Amino acid sequence: MRQEEKTAPATVTQNLEGKTIIVTGAASGIGRESALLFAQAGAKVIVSDIAADGARATVDAIRSLGGVASFEAANLAVEEDVQALVQAAVTTYGRLDGAFNNAGIGQAGKLLHELSTEEWQRALLIDLTSVFWCIKYQVIAMMSTGGGAIVNTASSLGQVAIPNASEYVSAKHGVIGLTRAAAADYGAKGVRVNCVLPGIVNTPLVQELVGDPRFATFLEKLKDRHPIGRFGEPNEIGEAARWLLSDAASFVNGASIAVDGGYLAI
Ligand SMILES: NC(=O)c1ccc[n+]([C@@H]2O[C@H](COP(=O)([O-])OP(=O)(O)OC[C@H]3O[C@@H](n4cnc5c(N)ncnc54)[C@H](O)[C@@H]3O)[C@@H](O)[C@H]2O)c1
Repeated sequence: MRQEEKTAPATVTQNLEGKTIIVTGAASGIGRESALLFAQAGAKVIVSDIAADGARATVDAIRSLGGVASFEAANLAVEEDVQALVQAAVTTYGRLDGAFNNAGIGQAGKLLHELSTEEWQRALLIDLTSVFWCIKYQVIAMMSTGGGAIVNTASSLGQVAIPNASEYVSAKHGVIGLTRAAAADYGAKGVRVNCVLPGIVNTPLVQELVGDPRFATFLEKLKDRHPIGRFGEPNEIGEAARWLLSDAASFVNGASIAVDGGYLAI
């Protein structure tokens, strides 16, 4: 059977005007700054996190800039919460056009043989399985209204490893594979799925490591490993996600975009 002809959109824009977009992990760090950027680009943002106070602060920040946002609590480690989050977006705004699946937790900082099965499973659950659940329910909603775009937050550690992070490295490698698999499943159905690979970014997740003496030398070395000579800022990741969510990225599907100051280049 001949495949239906696919045509490129006539006009492209980086604007997110009129789009309804879920941002997970939006109480803090990359998620918060991205939610603000998306709202400034005209999106209606569903700010989601397990941390209610931080998420409400993100909503307040968006509204004070004249943007549209609402808070939906979700523990992404629970499938029903993920399903309810997507349903809430559709109920509130009538449709879902985009999602930035960004929530995540860091590594326990142990060698592989020191890691308990519980620590391994928790990392895989929050950093990988939750992204599977997000995509699963988001594509159903998006396909019902003609399509959409999904961006997942992987990491440069989705392509290379560091010591003491086997659970995180494994989960983030999985996010890249999951992104490609979803792109293959839904590209022809109007849903693009891509991921961003942040290098080290100045967020609370990193600040936690900065305060931990076990990571002091390691972080210094890591800075040197970024050819740009510094760590990134949350909004620099948000800008890439904003572009991937916009119609300007209409031919980008299954891509892993490094936003890492050159970390993966050397
Ligand atoms: N900061 C970095 O250097 C860096 C580098 C590469 C990738 N990343 C990735 O970027 C993403 C965002 O990280 P960040 O640095 O902004 O960290 P962050 O800690 O500032 O934000 C992560 C957010 O995820 C939320 N979260 C955690 N578990 C959750 C759960 N079960 N349900 C719902 N929300 C949950 C937290 O409450 C928090 O608000 C993560 O996926 C992280 O792995 C970060």
